[in-house]
Amino acid sequence: MYSSFENQKVVIAGGSSGIGLATATILAKEKAHVTITGRSAGRLADAAKTAPGVHTAAIDSNNRPSLDEFFTSHGEIDHLVLALSGAKGAGTFADLSLKDLREGFEGKFWPQLETLQAALPYVKKTGSITVITAASAVLQAPGVSGLAAINGSLELMIPSLAKEIQPLRINAVSPGVIDTPWWDMMPADVKAQTFEQYASQTPVGRIGRPEEVAHSIIFLMANGNITGTIIRCDGGLSL
Ligand SMILES: NC(=O)c1ccc[n+]([C@@H]2O[C@H](COP(=O)([O-])OP(=O)(O)OC[C@H]3O[C@@H](n4cnc5c(N)ncnc54)[C@H](OP(=O)(O)O)[C@@H]3O)[C@@H](O)[C@H]2O)c1
Repeated sequence: MYSSFENQKVVIAGGSSGIGLATATILAKEKAHVTITGRSAGRLADAAKTAPGVHTAAIDSNNRPSLDEFFTSHGEIDHLVLALSGAKGAGTFADLSLKDLREGFEGKFWPQLETLQAALPYVKKTGSITVITAASAVLQAPGVSGLAAINGSLELMIPSLAKEIQPLRINAVSPGVIDTPWWDMMPADVKAQTFEQYASQTPVGRIGRPEEVAHSIIFLMANGNITGTIIRCDGGLSL
């Protein structure tokens, strides 16, 4: 389907699961040289079984020395995708533990920026960077102000960074509710109920699939004329 990824070097931070792994799987089939990162070596090994040909590196994106060491030894790359996530920061503000919100930033905002800064000298000017944010950035719904702070901060950086790092491109993909292992922190019945509830609020009438977000990411990687943009792959949830 894509003609341009053969032998291109791609690093997907947070690539051992969900959206990152779906992206890695498609790109490996397109003959890209894909390296996925994550903290758990076991999860990376399982991911490598489902996505043959994908390389793995166990790195915590909060650990800057490991990131620096990895990118220095990995050398130049064509594309960087930041797909890692935390899980904290949701809840109505009056009851929201600010410790949890800080941990939410530690789980997504800061490790994405650490990875971006460590990788920047090694991403080719002809390449791309794609940041995965979330519909919560613009949802304007009760219970998501903390998540809006985390994801909105990332989204607000994109246009400014696009000007700063030009001609290298940077964009974001903002998913809605997507059926990934991220939701497995919930008991199965609560997860099913939550998905049903979100599906009923979503104009397309269902929640999203990781492959759909992956195709949005790959579209941005492949299209050399797009920078500073946020694609909302959320079934219209944020409308
Ligand atoms: N799924 C959704 O409904 C949804 C909705 C909106 C936005 N998003 C966003 O989409 C992105 C991908 O989410 P997902 O649903 O695919 O999540 P996921 O299935 O939970 O995958 C998250 C990945 O990030 C890795 N990771 C987490 N913290 C890390 C760290 N400090 N260093 C390195 N790797 C780390 C995880 O591996 P380890 O745990 O082994 O480190 C895993 O590979 C995230 O930014 C998320 O916020 C998802």
